[in-house]
Amino acid sequence: ATTSVTLNTGAIMPTVGLGTWKSKPGQVEHAVEFALKNGYRHIDTAAGYQNETEVGQGLKASGIPREQVFLTTKLDNPDQRNPAAALESSLKKLDTPYIDLWLMHWPAPMTRDGKADKGHDWLDTWKAMEDLYLAYPEKLKAIGVSNFSVEYLQRLLPVARVVPAVDQIELHPSCPQHDVVEFCQKKGIVLTAYSPLGSDNSPLLKNEVVNRIATKYSVSPANVLISLHANKPLHTVLPKSVTNERILSNAKIIDLTKEDINDLHGIDKTHHFRACHPGWTGFGSLGFPDCE
Ligand code: A2P
Repeated sequence: ATTSVTLNTGAIMPTVGLGTWKSKPGQVEHAVEFALKNGYRHIDTAAGYQNETEVGQGLKASGIPREQVFLTTKLDNPDQRNPAAALESSLKKLDTPYIDLWLMHWPAPMTRDGKADKGHDWLDTWKAMEDLYLAYPEKLKAIGVSNFSVEYLQRLLPVARVVPAVDQIELHPSCPQHDVVEFCQKKGIVLTAYSPLGSDNSPLLKNEVVNRIATKYSVSPANVLISLHANKPLHTVLPKSVTNERILSNAKIIDLTKEDINDLHGIDKTHHFRACHPGWTGFGSLGFPDCE
């Protein structure tokens, strides 16, 4: 299993990062501080999570020097027409001079009142993100995308001046997205798995195959689900927790055999689900067949 990957920029990204989607105000500062004090060096947030200020406070409170932490945030859908202002806002809220990785959160521009912004093309947003990355290397160490299916990447790559460093997508045994994974690996784009446990109240934690493998290695089901990604090339993974014991435990990565991985890949055949259904009118499926 790997403990870090190298981005196409040459930067090192720790394999396991703390996820903060759905981490509530009043909880996330502590979670970030606790994770960093206990060995995490990778934190994932987003403007859309509305917790950047607290994440920044947790980072400060940990006492870990900024340059030792890999920090990701994301451009929110309603900010796609004005990435420059959104970048400044994220830097200010996180109270940091730079972001290690800035992602387009969805290839889905939206208006402030939550509707599809059909007059704006996400490809123009990427061009603006590239401009910012090229103009301000001291503020942006890498740029990438999130929730991009193969068809979206195929539209982006032929015109990209900067190949995305990362595609952050939902990945777990019930949502394996093998097509996106293979495509990104061929292009040297790092995959980051969100909702690796299947998000809240996940049936995967009770899954028989997951539990059998967990018992074999004397670890928890969560350790198996997180380690699945650490056993694949060009993968990083973002378990979310606001619970001290789980934050500690989730950092433990084990080696899995090819057979374990094959068994985990079999789960999707009978137990498929997505934790994240954007369901935005006007966007269609975003190229994900089960994301209508
Ligand atoms: P909590 O944050 O209250 O600890 P995902 O990473 O797939 O989004 O999953 C996050 C969900 O899984 C949250 O509800 C989180 O709860 C829970 N969780 C995180 N780590 C563990 C663990 N080791 N065992 C069981 N549940 C966990």
